Parts: sequence; C-alpha cells; structure tokens
Amino acid sequence: MARPLRPGEETPKSHQMKPNYRVQVLFEEAAIAQRNQEMAAAIAKETSGDLLVVAVLKGSFMFAADLIRALHRVGLAPQVEFIHLSSYRSGMVSSGTVTIHRDVESDVAGRDVLLVDDILESGRTLVFAKDLLAARGARRVFVAVLLEKAGKRAVEIEADFVGFNCPDLFVVGYGMDVAHTFRQLPFVGVVKPHDGEADLFDGA
Ligand code: IMP
Ligand code: MG
Repeated sequence: MARPLRPGEETPKSHQMKPNYRVQVLFEEAAIAQRNQEMAAAIAKETSGDLLVVAVLKGSFMFAADLIRALHRVGLAPQVEFIHLSSYRSGMVSSGTVTIHRDVESDVAGRDVLLVDDILESGRTLVFAKDLLAARGARRVFVAVLLEKAGKRAVEIEADFVGFNCPDLFVVGYGMDVAHTFRQLPFVGVVKPHDGEADLFDGA
C-alpha cells in the first residue's frame, strides 16, 4: 500500500482518477487526524452531553465521520443527522442561494446542535443552516468546519471550531470536490492541471 502523501507532494500517476491532473497536498492525513482530535476535545468542553451532530452533505461526509469518532474518543455520544444543502453549481462559483436537497429527520427543538461542514467561505450555507435550526427551536447551534477561508465572507458568521485556516485556493479531497471529482482523497489538496490540458473547472 502507498504511504500517505506529505504537504507539497503530488498524487502519483497511479492515483489519478482524472488523467492529466495532479493534486498537491495542502493538509496531510496525519495533520487532519491530529487536528480532529484537538477539535473534539474543544467541542467536549463547550457542549452539553445531549449533542446532536448535523453534518452538511455532501462535502463534510469524511470530516464528519472522523470528527464524530474523535468525539467518541473524548467521551461524547452524539446523535448524528444529515442535511444536504448546496450553494454551488457544478463549477467553482457560488450561486448565492442555498437549496435543501435533504432535510434532517430529528426534532431539533431544545437540543444543542453541532453543525459540521467542510469549509466556511462566503458563509451563506452555514448562515442558512444555522438560522433554519434556530428557527426550529434548537437550544444552541455550534458550528465546526474543517477549513476556513479568511476574508471571503459575504454574510456574517463565525465558526465556533475551526480545523485549519485555508489559503484562498480552490481545494479538493477529504470529501470536497470539483465537478464531482476528488472527494475520495484522504487529504486536502489543490488541483494542478498540466499545461495545455482542458480546464476541469469549466462546467462538467
Ligand atoms: P459558502 O456557502 O460560500 O461558505 O460555501 C461553502 C460551501 O462551498 C462548502 O460547504 C463547500 O461545499 C463549497 N466550497 C467552498 N470553497 C470550496 C473549495 O475550495 N473547494 C470545494 N468546495 C468548496
Ligand atoms: Mg458544502
């Protein structure tokens, strides 16, 4: 089995799902795992025992799965729910409006909720989700994101728990995609198209 890639390293040819693209590692597996455990410890300190995790699909599925296991290791036993939202079309530009593709099934009234998302950029997705759960009577709504891009906010929102500050680059992997690709990567990286190749970010 191949060893985990380190920051700055690129996916070898044998790992490529799309020919002619390499993904350069920005946050490696080990660093993400360690940070998840630190975040879980911080979350345990601030939330009550009756915690409902709401993972925002699709992008957070891998982060949420790891964070929830990290929460277990610090002694929490959260319930888990999913909401599927999108503010992005298939390319890289936010559409500005948020659509619910699948809603949570549990009653959130009176509960402490931890919203888990992959990345906080304009903030529209998480403001929408936070307002929705608050309007349904959640007692407190906390926000945990793996990545935060500074200076990109279109609406006002702060995450309570942040994994890493992310440079202003379009990132993929660890659940995040561009044009439905690269979600499977176990690390967060940046796509490096080879010169002269068709642009993956156009449509698809
Ligand atoms: P926001 O509503 O603008 O904060 O966008 C948040 C959502 O956009 C995230 O949950 C991601 O799904 C997506 N997104 C934002 N930036 C990136 C990126 O660099 N790579 C992949 N998805 C991104
Ligand atoms: Mg998302």
